[in-house]
Amino acid sequence: MTRVLSCIQPTGVVHLGNYLGALRNWVSGQHECDAFHGIVDLHALTVTDRPGVVGPSTLELAATLFAVGLDPEVATVFVQSHVPEHSQLGWVMECTVSYGELSRMTQFKDKAAKREADFVSAGLFTYPALQAADILLYDANEVPVGEDQRQHVEITRDIAMRFNSRFGDTFVVPKVVTPKAGAKVTDLQEPTAKMSKSSSSEAGIVYLLDEPAAIMKKFKRAVTDSDGEVRFDRAQKPGVSNLVEILAACTGKSPTDVAASYTQYGPLKNDAGQAVIELLTPIQHRYRELMGDRAELSRLLRVGADKARAVASRTLQRTYDNIGLLPLD
Ligand code: TYM
Repeated sequence: MTRVLSCIQPTGVVHLGNYLGALRNWVSGQHECDAFHGIVDLHALTVTDRPGVVGPSTLELAATLFAVGLDPEVATVFVQSHVPEHSQLGWVMECTVSYGELSRMTQFKDKAAKREADFVSAGLFTYPALQAADILLYDANEVPVGEDQRQHVEITRDIAMRFNSRFGDTFVVPKVVTPKAGAKVTDLQEPTAKMSKSSSSEAGIVYLLDEPAAIMKKFKRAVTDSDGEVRFDRAQKPGVSNLVEILAACTGKSPTDVAASYTQYGPLKNDAGQAVIELLTPIQHRYRELMGDRAELSRLLRVGADKARAVASRTLQRTYDNIGLLPLD
């Protein structure tokens, strides 16, 4: 059975890009695959400088993952810091990736530039090594992510192949999987930039927990262009194409078919907003229910941590054995 692994950071509220680019596909894939999904709280430390923030976000994100439909009986949902093997293999990965490779990662360059005068941690730079550990620990065949994570999966493949050639066959070399529609949802106010938790303005971001009226308002105010033609063309018409693609992702149609059924921007904005509201309303109900039972959430995360550790500890041991570290007799 195909093993799938993908993770999300507990930084800020989950948005429509996370949902259409990743979470929805985790849910649809969980019954055909052996699915592992992590809330990567240690990754969030690369940009955390206050106490008491990451823990509550982690719990809220766990409720969100179950609310979108991950079934704890089927998929393994765990918190990264509950599985210490991530940090342990992370170090091995740091020793298997080069400084030059890390320097070429576009996310590091973007994030470091955005932080400007802020503290840029070494962890932000070595982040892809920890992400490689997340993936390789689980012998994942596939990593379902949004387009922005492609480079991270590619570097993971390079690291896995390098390690295997140095120390013998140890890791499964994973492949990236992105959705047909929704792999890069862009900001409704700035349609050439991806919808991102770290955007400066909230007007262009649709949060999973936004009220219906707020969602509709954001869609009605979405930036388009002045030529008045509905066409799917990301390069020439980023705003309109984003709305078309969101509607396509919600309805299961192709972006070209969606574009062909509209002649005006108003109805397109309205229908995209409506489709998103219909998709998110049941998720919001389930989220509130789940957040009302913290003990159950903790129990589910314990079950997930135990299942994750059973796999991760075997891979870590295999890694140490293949390197030839001295065992403790
Ligand atoms: P994160 O937490 O930023 O995002 C989680 C998932 O959401 C996708 N995504 C998007 N998809 C489409 N359009 C968007 N605007 C959009 N924004 C985010 C991301 O591609 C991702 O799939 N480094 C990762 C977390 C991570 C990880 C891993 C992922 C750590 N270890 C191992 C996969 C496997 C990140 O920061 O994702």
